[in-house]
Amino acid sequence: MSQTTTICFANNKGGSGKSTTCCNVGYSMALQGKKVLLIDGDMQMNLTLSFFDDETALELAKNGKNLYNAIKDERDLTPFVLSTPYEGLDLIPSSTLMSGIEFELFTKWQRELILRQGLKKIKQSGQYDYILIDAPPTLGCWVMNIMCASDYLIIPVEASPWGLFGIANMFEFYEQVQRLSPDLRLLGILVTKVNERKNYFKQTMETLGTLDDVPVFPTYIRTDSTIEWSQDNSKPVMAYKKSSRAAQEYFQLAKEVIQHADR
Ligand SMILES: Nc1ncnc2c1ncn2[C@@H]1O[C@H](COP(=O)(O)OP(=O)(O)O)[C@@H](O)[C@H]1O
Ligand SMILES: [Mg+2]
Repeated sequence: MSQTTTICFANNKGGSGKSTTCCNVGYSMALQGKKVLLIDGDMQMNLTLSFFDDETALELAKNGKNLYNAIKDERDLTPFVLSTPYEGLDLIPSSTLMSGIEFELFTKWQRELILRQGLKKIKQSGQYDYILIDAPPTLGCWVMNIMCASDYLIIPVEASPWGLFGIANMFEFYEQVQRLSPDLRLLGILVTKVNERKNYFKQTMETLGTLDDVPVFPTYIRTDSTIEWSQDNSKPVMAYKKSSRAAQEYFQLAKEVIQHADR
């Protein structure tokens, strides 16, 4: 029985590339022969929409087979897993109802650990090599659930003037979660939406270089409109245009993640 490694993508700043990275690292891992389960933890359903068109995604949200219902009722997550059109890649979809998840969690016993509990059977079954969780841009009890259910955290940051604003809050939150879940490790910071000709990129890299004990992935993801086109077509970028720069970069990043996250 193989061991399952769980990785979450979180940053309280929106638009930093969490959902894009979760989708494309997951797909690239599956292409590299890994069995992967993706979990959409955000009410905006961006990860779900990366694989299904709007109508199908909303239908999924309506029929109750989504993460909100699973967490609200503290269920085992096994029956909530859906197949994607791609081999080795499954998904637990989100719902717009996730906007109310903090309220639902508030009255629960051990409310930071509901997701970890819900994933227990899936992990024990050993059917997945990786579980990847896409977090919303918040730092509350739900994101605490996501981090407490994870072995590793990846923080995508945008190479923009405000890309690193608020990162200190993210580190503080991570340290708080580590008190509850001491085995959680920061796998690395991933720099996304890079334009190498702009000073923000150099600035971002320099600032990250000054932080102690903060690993940064050598691979970064450059701005590439193919990403947006692939999302418009509800496909991972590599399934949409294999030769694109973004597809190659995410494939390389997945290799680095596999190399460093194997326990
Ligand atoms: N490398 C990239 N090149 C171009 N656009 C990108 C790239 N990465 C992300 N985007 C776009 O930026 C926006 C935010 O990305 P997203 O992954 O949704 O961030 P988050 O999940 O952190 O909010 C999306 O509209 C997405 O299409
Ligand atoms: Mg997102």
